[in-house]
Amino acid sequence: MSATSRHAYRAASVAERPRVWVSQPLFDDIVSRLHAYFDVVQAPDVREHDEAAIAAALREVDGALVTLNERIGEREIANAPKLRAVANVGVGYDNLDVGALQSRGIVATNTPDVLTETTADFGFALMMAAARRVTESERHLRGGKWTGWNFKGLLGADLHRSTLGILGMGRIGQGIAKRASGFDMQVLYHNRSRLPADVEGAYKASYVDFDTLLARADHLVLVLPYSPQTHHIVDAAALAKMKPTATLTNIARGGIVDEAALAEALGSGRLAAAALDVFEGEPAVDPRLLALDNIVLTPHIASGSLSTRRAMVTLAVDNLIAALGAGPDAGRPPTPIVPVTQGGDAGKRAGAA
Ligand code: 8YV
Repeated sequence: MSATSRHAYRAASVAERPRVWVSQPLFDDIVSRLHAYFDVVQAPDVREHDEAAIAAALREVDGALVTLNERIGEREIANAPKLRAVANVGVGYDNLDVGALQSRGIVATNTPDVLTETTADFGFALMMAAARRVTESERHLRGGKWTGWNFKGLLGADLHRSTLGILGMGRIGQGIAKRASGFDMQVLYHNRSRLPADVEGAYKASYVDFDTLLARADHLVLVLPYSPQTHHIVDAAALAKMKPTATLTNIARGGIVDEAALAEALGSGRLAAAALDVFEGEPAVDPRLLALDNIVLTPHIASGSLSTRRAMVTLAVDNLIAALGAGPDAGRPPTPIVPVTQGGDAGKRAGAA
């Protein structure tokens, strides 16, 4: 074989390897497993890709490993003829237009379960921080305002023996309910569908309608998936039904809460306190929220323990390898959003986070 034809052979075999796009720097030691099967193109830094950048990145690839920073719908995949799989690093997948992907036969996957406990831990931490005014107290101290011990200063609300309201009783909601039992909280929940009696029994959780949940919760936690149906489900009217002494914690998606209405309720004393890990326009945060003292604000870190973020990337990598027909689970990604059936047709949509 001549040097030229050897070169041509090498070029052809390289071209045959499927190509994948990794949209953010993740954990190199985990992502490097992709190299065994694919040519990998990885974004060099953390960035929010716009539609054109995503479309350009997807044009030549067979698969993509993406995060909530990438919104992928009809327009982004229009010129991506080879795309067969999108693996989302995250349980929530409102950044994906699953219908559009499905109609093109593109398999979409997410990362449920591996983040449940870590996210439930953080939801509980935020709820406690809001109720007991933890971050507000720290700002008070650091700001030099603690000039003498004050018996009645910075009084908060108890969690123990209070009523917890959980909106969205999927895996993470159930994780929060489990933690609440250690605090002797009464657990009420509302969900798209009522849970079986044995599950309710296991978490000592009672199903109520949405209005009753709002009216009775001392601490309300939002853990439901974001969709057009849940957009601003917690609006001014919903907030008006809550106790003025109540707290609201959101670890789901920012768009579930009408932030202007929340700022108004917190500012006027209509609601005691709130804690938000997610924002409608994140990373931008409404200045009306930033101006308030009775709110805890964190930058979307509920699943952010090192081991859980590593587990999420591991699962997403497994999903991508399998969805592209490689590795030990070829054709059977562990956690597809829509079950993958033989022939690649999609079945019923998966449930809540
Ligand atoms: C992730 C999340 O960090 O899993 C989710 O739905 O919101 C977070 O835990 C995020 O999605 C990363 O893409």
